[in-house]
Amino acid sequence: MYGMVNMAIEQMVVGKFGEDTWKKIKDKAGVSDVTFITMQSYDDKITYALVRAASEILNIEGAELLEKFGEYWILHTANAGYGDMLKMGGDNLPDFLKNLDMLHFKVGAIMPQLVPPSFEVKDVTAKSLTLLYRSKRDGFVPMVIGLVKGLGLRFNTPCSVTYIKFEEEEFAHCFKVNW
Ligand code: HEM
Repeated sequence: MYGMVNMAIEQMVVGKFGEDTWKKIKDKAGVSDVTFITMQSYDDKITYALVRAASEILNIEGAELLEKFGEYWILHTANAGYGDMLKMGGDNLPDFLKNLDMLHFKVGAIMPQLVPPSFEVKDVTAKSLTLLYRSKRDGFVPMVIGLVKGLGLRFNTPCSVTYIKFEEEEFAHCFKVNW
């Protein structure tokens, strides 16, 4: 994944637990010598190793960490660094979720090695929708939950996100979003 993601993990850990803790996490993940750069693509193994090491050192379940990270990313990282892009995605939760593929498509224009996820919005009502998430990667379901909750807070429509078993497609995940 692009350095942007690893750097956001770094920002969150340093902000909440300090530089020393981040150094320990990098050591444990075996990447003590790596300095992350936004526009460089890194092996996904590094991101997984960082999450695993952070989970062990901070004593927080990996899934919980990824959810917190997703929320943090929307409310802090994206807001500060990618404000214009976020504005392009829309000004309410359903519209924004519908525009996620367009947003990643635009990101792909400047990050050619991007392997973006894909999202589909269905069954929209005044207070809920169904979200399908398709990905070439494993393990990011909790991060999607945090990202969507973060978006809910961004648009002043705090929401609950429930994972729903979806067996119709191998690489698709389904969520019910209520606000
Ligand atoms: C300004 C807004 C955004 C930018 C610039 C952005 C950019 C990126 C980048 C660079 C990656 C790494 C992919 C790679 O390196 O191959 C990524 C992955 C991802 N993004 Fe976004 N993104 C944005 C908003 C969002 C939002 C709002 C969501 C909400 C659900 C989201 C969901 C994901 C997920 C789940 C992944 C990674 C996991 C996977 O591959 O399944 N992104 N994004």
